[in-house]
Amino acid sequence: MPTVSDRGRIMPNSPIRKLGPLAEKAKEKGIKVYHLNIGQPDLPTPPEALEAIKNIDRTILEYSPSEGIRSFREKLVRYYQKFNINVNIDDIIITTGGSEAVTFAFMSCLDPGDEIIVPEPAYANYEAFAIVAGAEIKSIAAKIEEGFALPPVEAFEELITPKTRGIMICNPNNPTGYLYTREEMNKIRDLVKKYDLYLFSDEVYREFCYTGAPYISAFHLEGVEQNTVLIDSVSKRYSECGLRIGALITKNEEVKQNVMKFCQARLSPPLIGQIAAEASLDADPDYMLNNYNEYVNRRKFLIDGLNRIEGVYSPIPMGAFYTVARLPVDNADRFCEWLLSDFQYEKQTLFLAPASGFYTVAGKGTDEVRIAYVLKKEDLAVSLKILEEALKVYPGSKVKHTVLSEKS
Ligand SMILES: Cc1ncc(COP(=O)(O)O)c(C=O)c1O
Repeated sequence: MPTVSDRGRIMPNSPIRKLGPLAEKAKEKGIKVYHLNIGQPDLPTPPEALEAIKNIDRTILEYSPSEGIRSFREKLVRYYQKFNINVNIDDIIITTGGSEAVTFAFMSCLDPGDEIIVPEPAYANYEAFAIVAGAEIKSIAAKIEEGFALPPVEAFEELITPKTRGIMICNPNNPTGYLYTREEMNKIRDLVKKYDLYLFSDEVYREFCYTGAPYISAFHLEGVEQNTVLIDSVSKRYSECGLRIGALITKNEEVKQNVMKFCQARLSPPLIGQIAAEASLDADPDYMLNNYNEYVNRRKFLIDGLNRIEGVYSPIPMGAFYTVARLPVDNADRFCEWLLSDFQYEKQTLFLAPASGFYTVAGKGTDEVRIAYVLKKEDLAVSLKILEEALKVYPGSKVKHTVLSEKS
């Protein structure tokens, strides 16, 4: 039998999806599973997008240009202007989701053996995309006690070697919800300048910043315009995960040329997806506002509720729709499995994402989980109750042991 590739072997399983079969089994047993594990928004897609799909007036569903449909890219130029991101149509390349944008960014800028520095916990697929490109992630742990703020510059500098080619950030952050301050972004800019690195900046959650603190895009930083590769996606912004539309934005001509070769090889981003994504840019401002307000309410409700449960701690996320919470458990991977395979509260249980999968360093995040607030408030209320009850009876619960020892 032929052997499979080493590259495939070292590809990590998605920490979000790997417990899926256990969730399916729980459902087969008649248990309702609350999915807090995945960033699949439950809010409606803009009606403009759905109408555009219904009204497609074409006789051939053809390839689109490899860089994406021109009218869509033109409209995106105006969209980014609203965020003070000043780019030209030629700087915007449409991709098959933000996922392909990250992959093409790495493939276009990095060679096998090159290294990029990523503050962790981080969006898990960066590691997978780095493996695809043969590159290696060097991670720096952000700390839950510091709300997952940017680790000190010295920690970055310690990791810089002749192989270091870039820094990857996600702002606002998945999984932590952290939003980098102007000061932190300036520190990143200075590092990028000093060592002439790429700055890969994933800003797919820009619409979801909740604290009034400014959103600082990598394109707001002076002097690193040629180093910056911005990653974008409509998946979260408009509840359009299934459209598979994203974008890679750069002013660096050489990078663009490389990216375009990968784009041409895969021929075209999805046609229907682009039609719907373009129409979404005309969504009623109330659409965004309603979704935004919904997340604001859920965030407060969830974080207050989590911090009320004995032994649980969650910092207050400033953006996106996730938080990483610390649980009083021996091992969050085991706890998440146990929730699906051995526990139910009134025929209900939770699907949480163990945070260990968002770190590349073994042993990190072992008592942390990522929770996505992509369920309505009533469901979040039930979820909090289930978590509280689960922690009382989980065999590896530190809370239960405290309670027992108090009684004994
Ligand atoms: C931070 C971040 N970047 C990129 C992606 C990829 O999104 P998509 O490929 O659906 O556009 C996601 C999806 O969850 C994400 O959270």
